[in-house]
Amino acid sequence: MPLFTKQSDLKNHLEPMIAAHKTIGFVPTMGALHQGHLSLLQQSLKNNSVTVISIFVNPTQFNNADDLKKYPRTLEADLEKVNALHPEIIVYAPSVEDIYENKTESQSFDYDGLEFQMEGKHRPGHFDGVGTIVKKLFEIVRPTNAYFGEKDFQQLQIIKKMVSKLQLPVTIIGCPIHREESGLAMSSRNERLTTLEREKAAVIYKILLESKKLFATQSAKQVTQWVTKQFEKEPLFELEYFEIADEETLLECKRKNQKKHYRGFIAVFVNNIRLIDNISLK
Ligand code: PAJ
Repeated sequence: MPLFTKQSDLKNHLEPMIAAHKTIGFVPTMGALHQGHLSLLQQSLKNNSVTVISIFVNPTQFNNADDLKKYPRTLEADLEKVNALHPEIIVYAPSVEDIYENKTESQSFDYDGLEFQMEGKHRPGHFDGVGTIVKKLFEIVRPTNAYFGEKDFQQLQIIKKMVSKLQLPVTIIGCPIHREESGLAMSSRNERLTTLEREKAAVIYKILLESKKLFATQSAKQVTQWVTKQFEKEPLFELEYFEIADEETLLECKRKNQKKHYRGFIAVFVNNIRLIDNISLK
């Protein structure tokens, strides 16, 4: 499996493929790979002649130093998983210096307000960090198609917005949320849960499914109140937010509009570990 830690080496390796107009599929990740990440790789393998994955825990998108420190780093196991999926997948696993040189800073982005909603309210600077790293990675890899999970739906919309505003020559493809058997959305952070917490965290998806049923007959406000109540009954969990928002603008649904597509978005703390999930309410 081709593994690169330096952007100059990766660029040299990709150059002849780009010159030969091969389609390059790209999956940016922060590692601690699970089936959710692998499903993006599978999608890329299906649609492109070359697939590249990046594994890089990006410091500029963490607004909490402890979260950055505790973020799981499992490069050896990640490489095995990638290799088992397909030995020709190209891996780029750079150091912070290779990406940021001596300036580990975010550029600031205007995403037409998408950045001020939900995750943006609770994680200041997060989407500037995401935009900064994804733009840098796009410049290095020069992908034809790039794959992002709906697990981070706001991130997916923000990347689409960045690409359209900066007119970057890449197509962004959103992929469905991969879940554990219990319904819990797969996440690298799940690894930090105890067995009991992980089992109990299945309630997040159960509540999302129920909220979808309720939204057919109730207002966004009523559903939100119902969800809030459910979490008051769950001592292990602390609800940070539940919000029903328009998929395109990410603005909170105040009054239902039949023409719009809504999603329920949730962020929950389980013993200081922050989990997010979302569901289409269509
Ligand atoms: P990370 O959390 O590692 O996720 C990498 C990609 O995998 C993202 O597009 C994410 O939405 C997707 N993903 C994660 N869990 C998933 C699941 N259960 N089902 C489907 N897709 C899933 O998101 C990031 O890294 C970073 O912000 C990054 C874009 C790499 C920039 O640093």
